[in-house]
Amino acid sequence: MNRSFTIATIGGDGIGPEVVDATIPVLETAAGLHQVTLDWDRLPLGADRYLATGETLTDTMFEHLRDDVDGILLGALGDPRVPGNEHARDILLGLRFRLDLYVNYRPCTLLHPDLCPLKPDPATGRSPAIDFAIFRENTEGSYLGRGTARDVGTDREEQIVEEVHTAPKVERILRAGFSWAVEHRHSRVTVVDKANAIPGHRIWRRIAGEVHRDYPDLELEFYYVDALAMELVRDPVRFEVIITSNLFGDILSDLGSQLIGGLGVAASGNLHPGRPGLFEPVHGSAPPLAGTGRANPLATMLTGAIMLDELGVPEAADAVRTAVAAALDAGHTTPDLGGSCTTHDVATWILDHLTP
Ligand code: NAD
Ligand code: IPM
Ligand code: MN
Repeated sequence: MNRSFTIATIGGDGIGPEVVDATIPVLETAAGLHQVTLDWDRLPLGADRYLATGETLTDTMFEHLRDDVDGILLGALGDPRVPGNEHARDILLGLRFRLDLYVNYRPCTLLHPDLCPLKPDPATGRSPAIDFAIFRENTEGSYLGRGTARDVGTDREEQIVEEVHTAPKVERILRAGFSWAVEHRHSRVTVVDKANAIPGHRIWRRIAGEVHRDYPDLELEFYYVDALAMELVRDPVRFEVIITSNLFGDILSDLGSQLIGGLGVAASGNLHPGRPGLFEPVHGSAPPLAGTGRANPLATMLTGAIMLDELGVPEAADAVRTAVAAALDAGHTTPDLGGSCTTHDVATWILDHLTP
């Protein structure tokens, strides 16, 4: 039976359009190998449009993305011509918040030993088998833009930035992480906060303890974020599922990406189980790389694989991951991974190596 899905794409700024253009044919071909058609709906959102028209995410466009598509693939937003980053916040955070995509799922899986910057295990001589997933709360925390500003630009300037953690929102991201851990046969969940310095963060420990009662086979542990940052470098292999608030998840996911080869291979999905998601690489728009052919498209392709999984086409997702792993094995990579290929070379190679 043929199935088809409509996918909106937002190339965005900097290298965003390049990595999305490189990824579209790969996803289309991988899906096609499994009798699935992807129809693309390319939306011209980003700094160019904002600077030309003042428009970011209009209500009409938001409603279209909410009602008419099966997924959104986004490159990156951020442009030096918009130093306040307001268009990116409107579009990216706007979609995360307004679509209530409360799970920011950021897997960190080492796909090739040479990509890991850590020393090999002295016992085995092998690179650590890093494979954990970050579940980042995606709808509140420090990201709501709440607070007050006083005497801006003077030596009395005061910025009060509010951080919000509400019980139902903390609970739903915890449940998402715990359930995923069970589904993926993990044994331990790590909940991360800074409750020793910020008493409000105790809410994470309280609710995690309550949710844990429904998942008695999982071990629950708590880490303060500073200690976790250290442990992730010292012994990343012991981590399986990390659940945390918005800002800590943002920071830890860049740290995690570097353990597996860097932002060029770090994928993510903004999800609300049962609804269409927003899929974007962890990296940003890397303005200095734009137009140089040096942008690594693998993070966006692996992000596309998460999207294919969510669409219910895991065979196509696996086809993408297998071809990406083969490119890494063969050294067909961009300069960030030590190769000499362009974005386009990598995309062509992957396309040629997709198999059902
Ligand atoms: P960045 O992720 O753009 O770049 C950080 C470093 O990683 C740079 O050295 C860059 O060259 C490298 N890098 C990133 N992606 C790469 C790729 N695909 N291939 C090869 N190298 C890659 O982060 P930044 O420099 O802090 O931010 C630049 C802009 O992107 C800012 O405006 C920021 O707000 C924005 N940003 C957007 C998103 C998003 O849209 N999801 C995410 C992060 C940052
Ligand atoms: C990310 C980015 C965004 C975030 C920025 C661009 C607002 O860093 O997706 O990781 O902080 O969530
Ligand atoms: Mn980030």
